[in-house]
Amino acid sequence: MSEQFDNTAGPLTTESGAPISNNNQSEAAGVGGPVLVQDQVLLEKLAHFNRERIPERVVHARGAGAYGTFTVTADVTKYTKAKFLSQVGKETETFLRFSTVAGNLGSADAVRDPRGFALKFYTEEGNYDLVGNNTPVFFIRDAIKFPDFIHTQKRDPYTGSQEADNVWDFWSLSPESVHQVTWLFGDRGIPASYRHMDGFGSHTYQWVNEAGEQFWVKYHFKTDQGIKNLTQDEANRIAGEDPDSHQRDLREAIERGDYPSWTVQVQIMPAAEAATYRYNPFDLTKVWLNGDYPRITIGKLELNRNPDNVFAEVEQSIFSPAHFVPGIGPSPDKMLQGRLFAYGDAHRYRVGINADHLPVNRPHATVARNGNRDGLGYDGRHGRQKNYEPNSFGGPYETGQPLWGPVQVSGVTGEWETPKHAEDDDFVQAGKLYNLMSEDEKDRLIANLAGFIAKVSREDIIERAIGNFAKADENYGKRLAVAVAELRR
Ligand code: HEM
Repeated sequence: MSEQFDNTAGPLTTESGAPISNNNQSEAAGVGGPVLVQDQVLLEKLAHFNRERIPERVVHARGAGAYGTFTVTADVTKYTKAKFLSQVGKETETFLRFSTVAGNLGSADAVRDPRGFALKFYTEEGNYDLVGNNTPVFFIRDAIKFPDFIHTQKRDPYTGSQEADNVWDFWSLSPESVHQVTWLFGDRGIPASYRHMDGFGSHTYQWVNEAGEQFWVKYHFKTDQGIKNLTQDEANRIAGEDPDSHQRDLREAIERGDYPSWTVQVQIMPAAEAATYRYNPFDLTKVWLNGDYPRITIGKLELNRNPDNVFAEVEQSIFSPAHFVPGIGPSPDKMLQGRLFAYGDAHRYRVGINADHLPVNRPHATVARNGNRDGLGYDGRHGRQKNYEPNSFGGPYETGQPLWGPVQVSGVTGEWETPKHAEDDDFVQAGKLYNLMSEDEKDRLIANLAGFIAKVSREDIIERAIGNFAKADENYGKRLAVAVAELRR
C-alpha cells in the first residue's frame, strides 16, 4: 500500500488533505440550530457516500475473487505459440473471479445456478482472459437470444421476482437448452463451494503454433479438492443461514494456506477435422466426447492470495473473451462472437473508459502502449508521449503479426441457423447425460425439475417443457410428467 493512502497514522483529513477537527458533530447555527452549508466535511462525506456504488454486472453480479499462479506441466508448443504456455515449469500470475449468474450483488451463494469461472492470466504478451463457467455447455447457441434468455432468469417487469412461467416458457421454446438444464438440475447444479467444482472454457477456441498450424481447443479445469455438491434442501438452509457461504469458504481457505487448485486440461482438435466431426464443434450446447478428443493435462492453477479490497479488485475487475494473446483466438461459435463485443461494452459502461488501467485489470507482466488517451479517471500515465501512430518520435509501432490464424469462410450472408452435423439435434447429448446418471441422481434430478415446473401457471408451457425432456429420453419425460402431475394434484 502506498504511503499516500496510509490511513493508519495522523489526523483525519478531507479529500483535499485538510485536517478534520470533528467527525461526529456537524457544524450548526447555534446549539440546537440548523446545519450550515459551510460544513464541507459533512457535505463531502455525504456526497461521496451517495456515489459508492457502480452499476452491478447485468449478469454474474454476485462473486468472489482471488489471485493465483498458473504453472505449465506439459509441452504444448506444437499446438500454440502463446508464450505463457511455452515451457514446462513456466509460471504466470492469475486472477480468478467466481460468481453466480442470476442473483443480484447481495444475493445468497448457495443457489441452483451456473457458476462463473472468469480467469485472467497476466502474461508477458498481455492479459489473456478465459471467461468460462462451471458447465461445459450453455442454454443457447446464438448471442442474439442472450438478452431474452437473461430477462427470463432475472426479475419480471411486473412482479419484480423471478417467475417460473418466464423461465419455462423460454426454455421450452428453446429446446437447445435441454442439455444445460439437465446439467443444472442434476447434482452439480449447486456446488458446495467455489473450490469444489470444475471450470470450463465452454466455447471452442483457436490455438495456432509458430508454423501457423491451427487447432480447435476446449479448456477444462478439474478441481483438486474433489467435486462436492449440495442437495436442494441443504442449499435452502445454507442460503438462509449464511448467504456468503462460497465467498467466506474461498477467503478462509486461502487465509489458512489451504490453497485451492485445479488441474488444467485441454481437448485438441486439428482444424481440418472440424467440418466432419459428428457434432458441430462450434455449437455451445454440445460437448466433444472425451473418447473422440481425450483431455490432455497441461497445467496447474493454484489460488494463493486474497484481494485486499473487494470493491477495487473484485467489483471493478473486468474480464473479456476478446482479451487474447498471440497464439490464441476465437472460433466461429456464434455465442462467442457476440461475447467478443458484449464484455468490453459492459466494462465501459460499468467501470468506465479507463477500467483497463486499474491495478487488477492492467497487464502485470508487460505494459499497454497505444494512442488511447484521456477520458474519465485518466491518470496521465503517458506523460508527454505522442498520442498517434505512425510517428517519427520512437513511439510504439504495429507488429504486422495477427494474434490468431485466418479461417476459411464461404457462402452468402444470411440469418442462418447454426449448421447441424451428422449426429446433431437439440436432444442427443441431454439424453446421454441423463443416462450417465445413477438411479439416485435421476431421482433427485426429476424432483428438482418437477418442483420448479410445477410452479408454472399454464398447462401448455408445462406440456411443451416436458415434451422436450421426453425427446431427450422417453423415460426422462415420462418420469417428469408423473412427478409434475403429482405435485399439481
Ligand atoms: C452471448 C452470450 C453472452 C453474453 C452477451 C454475455 C454477457 C455478459 C455480460 C454483459 C457480463 C457482465 C460483464 C461485466 O459487467 O463486467 C457477463 C459476465 C459474465 N459472463 Fe457472460 N455473456 C454471455 C454468455 C456467457 C457464457 C456462455 C459464459 C460462460 C461460458 C459466460 C460467462 C460469464 C462470466 C463468468 C461472467 C462474469 C465475469 C466476471 O466475473 O466479471 N457468459 N456476461
